[in-house]
Amino acid sequence: KIKENTKVIYIETPSNPLLTITDVKAVAELAKKYGLVSMIDNTFASPINQTPLDLGIDISIHSATKYLGGHSDILAGAVAGSQEHMDRIFQKGINFGGNLSDFMAYLLERSIKTLALRVEKHNANAQVLAEYLQDHTLIKKVYYPGLKNHPNHQIAKEQMHGFGGMMSFELRPDLDAIAFQKALKMIKPSMSLAGVESTILMPSVTSHALLSPEERAEIGISDHLLRFSVGIENQEDIINDIEQAFEKVKV
Ligand SMILES: Cc1ncc(COP(=O)(O)O)c(C=O)c1O
Repeated sequence: KIKENTKVIYIETPSNPLLTITDVKAVAELAKKYGLVSMIDNTFASPINQTPLDLGIDISIHSATKYLGGHSDILAGAVAGSQEHMDRIFQKGINFGGNLSDFMAYLLERSIKTLALRVEKHNANAQVLAEYLQDHTLIKKVYYPGLKNHPNHQIAKEQMHGFGGMMSFELRPDLDAIAFQKALKMIKPSMSLAGVESTILMPSVTSHALLSPEERAEIGISDHLLRFSVGIENQEDIINDIEQAFEKVKV
């Protein structure tokens, strides 16, 4: 709800961890209508898959720790917008003092050179993995905007250039999700995401562990939900790892 003191509309799409999609253009238009600043966390899409400023958004931010860095070895951020906004943000950045070291800046610049190539492979691998998991008898549900049955597939198709490398899936409730995660060999557990290597995270015991089971249920985060950051490895290697883990937890 827009209140009298509302200054900013801030969205995240695709969202973490359930990959919900918000209509970016509609939000940008709404913000303009009410004289508000529109902001987006564009991390999951990356600037290759989604260019929010073209859709009317004022400020786009990225955790550059993720796709921009891409190798799970830096902590950084990026922000894009008009010169007027950038001047204010840059000045605040200097005053707050959270600046990158020269080595991190070097790694980030180096990584960005391969961003488009990496994201292309992340997109292709994730689409194949989403379709494979969706058809799997041990999987209850897959959340990926590239799937035709995703509730906002059409909007995603219109506003994104690719569907990205992030997805979530729910194991069948009779399976032990923790045992499944432990049984994976190549796919490693990780709080972070979007590196070249495939990683996995169980929101109910990590990012959303501080919520009560009722609160988690309310926002759709079950104990069988796994967030999957699909890497750029050979597709068969990723599928084989998942298959061998399923073999170990199958009842
Ligand atoms: C969508 C999204 N935005 C922002 C962040 C924060 O990023 P950082 O760890 O670089 O501060 C994360 C990661 O934790 C994220 O997943």
